Amino acid sequence: MDRQSKFTFPSDFTWGTATAAFQVEGAAHEDGRTDSIWDTYCARPGAVVDGSNGDVACDEYHRYPEDIALMKELGVGAYRLSVAWSRIFPTSGGPVNQAGLDHYLRILDMLRDNRIKPVVTLYHWDLPQYLQDAGGWPSRDTALRFGDYASTLASSFGDRVDTWTTLNEPWCTAYLGYGNGAHAPGIKDYDQALAAVHHLNLAHGLACQAIRAQVGQGARMSVTLNLQVTRAATDSPEDLGAKERADLFANEVWLAPMLEGVYPDGVEQAADGETDWRFVRDGDLEIIHQPIDALGLNYYATTYVKARRVGDGTANASVGPEGELADRHANAMPAQEGVEGLAPQGELTGMGWNQEPQGLTDVLVELGRRFPDIELMVTENGSAWDDQVSRDPSVPGGLVVHDPKRVAYLEKHVQAVAKAIEAGAHVTGYFAWSLLDNFEWALGYTKRFGIIRVDYDTQERIWKDSGRRYAQIVKANAI
Ligand code: NOJ
Repeated sequence: MDRQSKFTFPSDFTWGTATAAFQVEGAAHEDGRTDSIWDTYCARPGAVVDGSNGDVACDEYHRYPEDIALMKELGVGAYRLSVAWSRIFPTSGGPVNQAGLDHYLRILDMLRDNRIKPVVTLYHWDLPQYLQDAGGWPSRDTALRFGDYASTLASSFGDRVDTWTTLNEPWCTAYLGYGNGAHAPGIKDYDQALAAVHHLNLAHGLACQAIRAQVGQGARMSVTLNLQVTRAATDSPEDLGAKERADLFANEVWLAPMLEGVYPDGVEQAADGETDWRFVRDGDLEIIHQPIDALGLNYYATTYVKARRVGDGTANASVGPEGELADRHANAMPAQEGVEGLAPQGELTGMGWNQEPQGLTDVLVELGRRFPDIELMVTENGSAWDDQVSRDPSVPGGLVVHDPKRVAYLEKHVQAVAKAIEAGAHVTGYFAWSLLDNFEWALGYTKRFGIIRVDYDTQERIWKDSGRRYAQIVKANAI
């Protein structure tokens, strides 16, 4: 597709926006909710750059009617949201909290009344603190408890949910949570990270089984992965080897067990024989390998790697001009000796990430070829920029954000999806990250990804040009 020609998406293509519970809800102590690992992490001095937390966030817990009205104005047909586990099971072994379920039931009903399909993620990183105290994801019991939680949600929500997503970006949970400690619970231990990988996979399989047992075989199941599009710096066998090694732990440890029922060759050896893989028990792979209807992909940027020559002293890091920011993923994955990340090139987004829409086309086309029977959905895509508010008396509220860089990023990436569809990939949906500016994890409120701005002092929602542009794309169903 050349830039000039217009591409019309299939008539049943799903356009949506996405958020996650901890990032938007606030109401941290209401209706029985107890702490998650992110509440604890935020309280740790220095863990979150601006010292902020999720106590209020976008106050979505109370403002969802207003925000569903914004979705109507955007014209989207779907909303990807997540459930806070500690609202549903506030205590270890305690009863289900009906007030927590009721909150989400009200949202699901309002979405249905507005003809917006709910795509519900069960786990977007906010593990109940009591489960971390009992060992967290490195412990098998967490996966079993996740199965119970999934069963409870399924029996309560039933067919109100259009698509169930078990996990969001388990890569981050395992490697940032337990590998380099950049995310909650802030542990730095590769053995724990690898055990977390397996128990997240197991949790996915158990949740698929539990949801289908409650809702029926027709329940539409998915998982969202942040598959990394890693490019080798050169075609040398060494650099290609480095890319393969990165792919193994970034992508294959999820794709192969979930969709092919195996752990990829090399994963045990690459763990240097130091990690005891006995956490993988007989029968686990059969549980993990459940049929799914859709594979969700979160895509933002590409990564370049080269082989690191022994003794050259460089860190295993992608160090950009933004230093710490681009460094967030550094040293996250185990067994990456010999892999060196390169500094991102070109105009970087506010996160210090590069912009390479072609990476989105490539990964969709490749997934489409490898898993032709599974629908692909881009469950997140978006960019953070340093937004400025301008006065405009002609709009309600008198304020707007002109964000040409976010508009350009959006257009280029929607075009990249169009290209993938033209090349034969079965892509059925695109979700803009995010509906609102929100709590960007260890970067607190310093990074704004919303297509609608949040004034955190007043909770006012302010339209950005990117929101208006997205509404046009959705309405035209074309780019
Ligand atoms: C992926 C995560 O799922 C989401 O929570 C986060 O805000 C975005 N990436 C942007 O970093």
